[in-house]
Amino acid sequence: MTLLRDADLSTAFDHAAHSYDTLVAATPGYHAQLRRSARRLGLPHPGTGLRVLDLGRGTGVSTAALARVLPDAEITAVDASAGMLERATAKPWRGGVRFVRAPAEALADAGVTGPYDAVLAACLFRDVTDPDAVLSAVHALLALHRRLAVHEYTLSGHPAHRAVWTAVCRGLVLPVASALGDGGLYRHLWRSVVEFDTADRFTERVRARGFDRVRALPLPGRQTGITHTVVARRAEAPARSGR
Ligand SMILES: C[S@@+](CC[C@H](N)C(=O)[O-])C[C@H]1O[C@@H](n2cnc3c(N)ncnc32)[C@H](O)[C@@H]1O
Repeated sequence: MTLLRDADLSTAFDHAAHSYDTLVAATPGYHAQLRRSARRLGLPHPGTGLRVLDLGRGTGVSTAALARVLPDAEITAVDASAGMLERATAKPWRGGVRFVRAPAEALADAGVTGPYDAVLAACLFRDVTDPDAVLSAVHALLALHRRLAVHEYTLSGHPAHRAVWTAVCRGLVLPVASALGDGGLYRHLWRSVVEFDTADRFTERVRARGFDRVRALPLPGRQTGITHTVVARRAEAPARSGR
């Protein structure tokens, strides 16, 4: 199948926004795993005086993880989808959380400017047309030696993990999503994970954009081998232009 991209993907997320939190609630450990990835940003609790960017915030599930781990931090939560924005802003938030609708490819145009003390991108990079360009943009937004955490469905490369992912999608995710009218988006989810970088390949991609101390950290439980947090530090060296 052809993967969804750009405007088509945003339209699919607009529609799926109504059921997104229901599907998240049915995914064991999703919130806890996001909090784990937020902690892997390595910032001191409670985050007083720190600026954090949540890139691809969806309905705000990842924003909530950041707000819980860093209750005093200033959070900018960005997403391209209007439907996701509507769901996110309908929730109660503490002060210091700002929502912006913008594509990750044009953050400056929307007034999202650095330096940030951390960037969390949860389930975003698989979906962008040019992940290298977005990684370079994130590199430019981060303060020196501050971290990016990419919480992502990135397979280990082991055939067993790929088979489990396909079985879960075919047996559970796709039937439920189709019943909710969002089969197209979740078929995209299934295939985009299979076709995207493995965790090791993604760490190479991140390193090539000027990050150091890049590590793919497994997430425990049923997600092992399927979901990772890739953490990376903005190094002094500028991003290389090629791969
Ligand atoms: C799977 S959701 C993840 C939401 C949230 N981070 C979470 O973990 O629940 C992916 C989100 O990324 C957004 N997205 C995809 N491509 C994007 C892009 N190029 N720029 C900005 N947002 C994008 C979608 O609109 C969607 O809300």
